[in-house]
Amino acid sequence: MILIIDFGSQYNQLIARRVREHRVFCQIEPPTINMAAIRKLNPDGIILSGGPSSIYDKKSPRIHKAIFDLGIPVLGICYGFHYMADTLGGTVKRSKKREYGFADMRIRSHDHLFADIDDETTCWMSHGDTIKKLPRGFKITASTPSTRIAAAAHIKKKIFGVQFHPEVAHTPQGKKIIKRFLFDICKCKRLWTMKNFAIQAEERIRETVGDNRVILGLSGGVDSSVTALLIHRAIGNHLTCIFVDNGLLRLNEKEKIEKTMKRHLAINIRFVSAKRRFLSALAGVTDPEKKRKIIGKVFMDVFEGEAKKIKKAAFLAQGTLYPDIIESRSAFGGPTSVIKSHHNVGGLPKKMKLKLVEPLQYLFKDEVRKLGKTLGLSDELVWRQPFPGPGLAIRIIGEITSRRLAILRQADDLLLQEIKAAGFYKKLWQSFAVLLPIKSVGVMGDKRTYENILAIRAVTSTDAMTADWAKLPHKFLASVSNRIINEVNGVNRVVYDISSKPPSTIEWE
Ligand code: XMP
Repeated sequence: MILIIDFGSQYNQLIARRVREHRVFCQIEPPTINMAAIRKLNPDGIILSGGPSSIYDKKSPRIHKAIFDLGIPVLGICYGFHYMADTLGGTVKRSKKREYGFADMRIRSHDHLFADIDDETTCWMSHGDTIKKLPRGFKITASTPSTRIAAAAHIKKKIFGVQFHPEVAHTPQGKKIIKRFLFDICKCKRLWTMKNFAIQAEERIRETVGDNRVILGLSGGVDSSVTALLIHRAIGNHLTCIFVDNGLLRLNEKEKIEKTMKRHLAINIRFVSAKRRFLSALAGVTDPEKKRKIIGKVFMDVFEGEAKKIKKAAFLAQGTLYPDIIESRSAFGGPTSVIKSHHNVGGLPKKMKLKLVEPLQYLFKDEVRKLGKTLGLSDELVWRQPFPGPGLAIRIIGEITSRRLAILRQADDLLLQEIKAAGFYKKLWQSFAVLLPIKSVGVMGDKRTYENILAIRAVTSTDAMTADWAKLPHKFLASVSNRIINEVNGVNRVVYDISSKPPSTIEWE
């Protein structure tokens, strides 16, 4: 495995992705990790990420310098390189101006890291400080017109540093450089496959859980389904899933989930119908945050009530993914302002005195999909677009009523049918309809109508942190709009949302 030390770079998850693309496992840890923990992980190589700090900042993150004496190859990127140079006796110069963008790079030494890199290539720079003097034993291996020490190496100690970012697509030969580091320098083996992961994860689950019972909140999304499948393989009927029907699901969703789950997973699932409880708690509420809080609370109560019926339950399983874990303990993770109160089961373990099992906590979303496929989940489930916990409640702007839910359900179903038929479903991160609280005038069969406006939202994204509105073809949008207005009673106008995130968000509430 490769250990990645997180100095706070916006690219550190990308470094992890690059390593895993080569089927090598890696783990991102904060610089506060101690030497004993590093030795225990026994990495084949260490990558020091970039970061926003200057090595001269009082609070610049640092890791124990003994990592350079472990005999393990190290690759420092940008700030990681500065930290390495500074710690080992070189000089880093603080610059007033950042160098940002493409730079032409000349390779000055083709050994090791740059063995198969062209003499002249392009790299992506994003830094303020630069290294002026290298520590003893290092030599310059690449330069750019404005950065003499664009890369350096201590060949004997297998310590390498690069000022540029090999992990970004803007460094065209970056992938090759990372590949060299992994296989020629660290001697890693390509063992990170989802099949191996599943076997190890099952063993870990059995060890952790022992003879106890596990409860899992099933949403029908890919993360909770894969979690359920994995745990079921490990402990069979000691797992019980709870599916709460909150009345805010899409058309026939509960039935579809029930069918697929039963087909795929011979698992204990308890379906709890709590429609009325949710809808009566939401009656008359229009404020988005209030809606979210009510849904979160009612969910907790319903879930807890059901879970109490399960004897000897000691664990709660969750489909938490790696990006959530990394973000929640980032070196720079200070309090951020709450944009939306996300509905999840986060408060439950404490309230119910349960321990957590999170078997997907080292995986990225696309790896979860691969794992799902490996475990035999259908394409339909594996490629399901994310659906938020609060469901259609945050897609009906204003008050939620049964009538408005019915309108949105029908329009949303029609939209998804068309998206799937046109082959866009897998390419989009999400595509859905939103019902607006304003009416507009229309004309249908010579008659005046005064009906609802429906918005279509479709975005592309890799992680939902940022998203682009999808440039769906006009012809497609025209035919969807036509169908919705003609077939959905209560809608006489359709608009397309052309906002990206940021500054907008994906969901409207
Ligand atoms: P926003 O609207 O914040 O959404 O851009 C980002 C992603 O998160 C999903 N989302 C939620 N998922 N519980 C969830 O499980 C929630 O409360 C929730 N709110 C938003 C949203 O669909 C998008 O994929």
